[in-house]
Amino acid sequence: MTGSSRPHAIVTGASSGIGEELARQLSAAGYAVTVCARRKEHLDKLAADLGEEHTFAAALDVRDDARRSAVLDEAVARFGPPSLVVNNAGMLALDHTEDIDAATIDAICDVNFRAPLLIQRWALSAMAGRGGTVVNVTSAAAFMWAPFYAYYNATKAGLAAASESVSAEHRRVGHPVHVVTVYPGPVQTAMSKQASDALNLGRFELPGLIGTPATLCRRILAAVRRKKPRVVYPRVYLVPYAWARTINWLAARLGPIPEKRPRV
Ligand SMILES: NC(=O)c1ccc[n+]([C@@H]2O[C@H](COP(=O)([O-])OP(=O)(O)OC[C@H]3O[C@@H](n4cnc5c(N)ncnc54)[C@H](OP(=O)(O)O)[C@@H]3O)[C@@H](O)[C@H]2O)c1
Repeated sequence: MTGSSRPHAIVTGASSGIGEELARQLSAAGYAVTVCARRKEHLDKLAADLGEEHTFAAALDVRDDARRSAVLDEAVARFGPPSLVVNNAGMLALDHTEDIDAATIDAICDVNFRAPLLIQRWALSAMAGRGGTVVNVTSAAAFMWAPFYAYYNATKAGLAAASESVSAEHRRVGHPVHVVTVYPGPVQTAMSKQASDALNLGRFELPGLIGTPATLCRRILAAVRRKKPRVVYPRVYLVPYAWARTINWLAARLGPIPEKRPRV
């Protein structure tokens, strides 16, 4: 252990965009930060900016189970058990659905859904008895099912459902690990540029409809501090978020019931 007295945060997908900005804000807020992603050269540059004594730059493909375990163990050995674990690494598959190949489906399920669930599971045991926070970066795609994003929508909806369920479960039993589900709408990063270029969305990129990593990350850190269950950003996406909830609420109360009650 380095003997760092700082609380320890682990951020996946920290080589660019939202994850990089989050690592910068966490470091400025006094955390020792473990930053993970595949592009090690980006992480090394980030660690040099943040101060190498308080930053562990770990090359990690989150799909690789053995490497993931080794990196998490080394992170704990350096900075102690984490107070905060952020599942931020994510990938996009945007195309006509029949043109998305099986290898890409496997990859997106692993990166956006399977790996975050396993990292969350690891975090819950690493925080056992001490408490802490898990942040799951999902997407507005979890409740707005845009065409051509089928597997992205599905994996983000799956992660959001798991994240919200654990959050509710922990609130119900007074569990000391707090879970924050983050629903970004479009935010200016390499990923949103990829989507914008593919769909020629430039004309829709109006202030209010597209956000910045800096503001999103400030809101995530505020939610961690204030123990809020979720962040929806930009705020305009609260409208479809609330609408989806309303439809589910109505369906649960007013939806028709089959004549013969199903067995439970
Ligand atoms: N920007 C948006 O509009 C938006 C909207 C909703 C949700 N989100 C979500 O926000 C998160 C961050 O995305 P971003 O917008 O900041 O995009 P980004 O700049 O492209 O960042 C994606 C990050 O994920 C990492 N990553 C991808 N595959 C990985 C893998 N197999 N193993 C480890 N790391 C991996 C990338 O690092 P390497 O390539 O170096 O591995 C990179 O650091 C994602 O989960 C994304 O789905 C973004």
